Amino acid sequence: MLLMKGSYFYDMDPYAIYRERREKTPVYWDEEHRLWAVYPYHHCQQVLSHPVTLIPPVADGELGGQALAVKKRLVRISNPPEHDLARQMALRMFRGRRHVDVGPLLARLLPPPGTPATVEWVSMVGAVLPAMHILAGYGFSDEDVELVLGQLSTVLRIMRPVENAEAARALEAAVDRVYPVADRQVATCFPGLTRETQEYAVSNLIGLLIQSHDATKGLLSLALLHLLCREKADLLASQDIGFFLSFVTEVLRYDSPVHNTRRVLTEDMTIGGVVVPAGSTVLVVVAAGNRDPQQFVRPEEFDRHRANNMTMLSFGHGMHGCIAGAYCTELTAQAMCYLFHTYKTVSLVEPEPEYEPLVNVRMVKAMHLQLI
Ligand code: HEM
Repeated sequence: MLLMKGSYFYDMDPYAIYRERREKTPVYWDEEHRLWAVYPYHHCQQVLSHPVTLIPPVADGELGGQALAVKKRLVRISNPPEHDLARQMALRMFRGRRHVDVGPLLARLLPPPGTPATVEWVSMVGAVLPAMHILAGYGFSDEDVELVLGQLSTVLRIMRPVENAEAARALEAAVDRVYPVADRQVATCFPGLTRETQEYAVSNLIGLLIQSHDATKGLLSLALLHLLCREKADLLASQDIGFFLSFVTEVLRYDSPVHNTRRVLTEDMTIGGVVVPAGSTVLVVVAAGNRDPQQFVRPEEFDRHRANNMTMLSFGHGMHGCIAGAYCTELTAQAMCYLFHTYKTVSLVEPEPEYEPLVNVRMVKAMHLQLI
């Protein structure tokens, strides 16, 4: 049975596979991809918090210049000892943002209420709002926001192996355009950094834009999809932010935008009685852990009142755990609240959206909405 392929989320229900693996082969050797995959909640936690696990290297290829330097400082793909300073600076950047209301940003992206309009939610909001919101938190000018958003789709490729010289040059050019703008804004917002900490701060500010992009784009679409499929749209207008927060949290458990992450073992590790040898790559299937009956009562049921849904693994676990879990849950809840409080009608044009053919992120490809 296939574990991953280009159209993994597109043409099959991953949760049926996860359930079978969790029950029959919780620590699974995937011969085709030459990796181990773990599915139960506690095995996922064990791997993510174990000191003998490392983030696998991402091939640099011919990448050079500022782009390579930025890549080497990114918290998400660094290992100890560099990870410590990178995480410290990423947290400092993240916590140093000022509060920004989501409503006015959405009002700029969406048509005014009252007149019927069809919008493509994923490209108009999902792909733009997370970066816009972060940049607004540091007071970037509209011109700089436009420049950064224009380069973002190329800058995102820094997290993937660089395939050839052409890809390397394009990535270098995009980072060369974004870096000075971010450098200037970091110097304004965080004066007095040393040269090294400034470089880590700028690189990890760019990292925040990268990290927020795919997963938050995914969450903004999945949350909306579940709301429209499970709740009566007209009643959502009277729900408060507390409702949307609990709903989005359960979406994260039940249908996480991030399905898996990887680690490489530096020593043998015994997982669920299986000795996984040093040097192995382990695929940690957090979305399968999120439906583990050992952790969640009636895991296949969507229940926003579940007492422990906050313990889901969608934001990872251990020293690489996401620094922005509460932030993107709130951002998404506020966006949903704005949408249903602003428009009289919010409805899906196509009932069954397609998913992107991605291996680790469950992301709706396009989602047309009718708004009035
Ligand atoms: C729905 C939205 C999001 C989800 C589901 C998500 C999920 C994750 C997961 C699973 C990890 C751990 C990866 C691993 O251990 O291999 C992670 C790490 C990280 N996330 Fe998020 N994330 C989201 C949004 C964001 C946002 C908005 C930001 C920044 C503003 C962010 C910043 C980070 C950073 C910096 C790390 C790396 C931490 C480290 O390696 O020490 N994430 N995220």
